[in-house]
Amino acid sequence: MISNYVASETENERPKNCITIGRLAPDFTASSTQGVITLSQYRGKWVLFFSQPGDFTPVSTTELISFTQLHQEFINRNVQLLAITIDSTFSDIDWLVDIYEKTGLIIPFPLMSDRNAAVANLYGMVNPDRVFEESVRDAFIIDPEGKIRAIITYPVSCGRNTYELLRVIDSIQLTQEHNFYTPADWMPGQPVIVPPPHTLEEALKRNSQAEISGRNCMDWYLCYEDYNTAINTT
Ligand code: BEZ
Repeated sequence: MISNYVASETENERPKNCITIGRLAPDFTASSTQGVITLSQYRGKWVLFFSQPGDFTPVSTTELISFTQLHQEFINRNVQLLAITIDSTFSDIDWLVDIYEKTGLIIPFPLMSDRNAAVANLYGMVNPDRVFEESVRDAFIIDPEGKIRAIITYPVSCGRNTYELLRVIDSIQLTQEHNFYTPADWMPGQPVIVPPPHTLEEALKRNSQAEISGRNCMDWYLCYEDYNTAINTT
């Protein structure tokens, strides 16, 4: 399997400011619509940390509504939603009041304020070429130990698919708990993928045991496991 792991590289040699999957999410403290929040206070929970390009903007408003409507799904997966904006907490509160008055929905998760873009810089959300029109929607899935497990970036013009974010969380949690992978277009309940062998010996063993394992194998490198069998595997 091709990996971006470089054997000679040590933790100290890697660029410190590079945000990537597998690294600890940089900690920060910010004021929010629910008081002062520090990212690390959510250790023990999964966190979906996502940026909103601007208060009172149309696409972002639909995202807050969608995240709120599916909030229970995130709670069921032990996921804390955390949104961040470059606007002030007063403006964030005003936006949430407006959404409540128009829809009756109370946004149940904090909107954090990042007025000086310190957090945005920490997470590489801004680059020298980016101007207002080029702001983007970044989302980071962070595991209970504080490690970044997925980074997803959308253009400002395209609202995120909340069901897709839940699906990615389901896939990552499945891998974490049961060590199975998930195929393209996978949905919970559908067959999952057995991680591929890493040695010739394992590959040959898998081939010879394909029939008795009960797994559906296209070849030694692509075997499916039934979902219910997989989630009963520890
Ligand atoms: C929006 O969420 O609709 C939006 C955000 C920033 C600039 C323009 C639109």
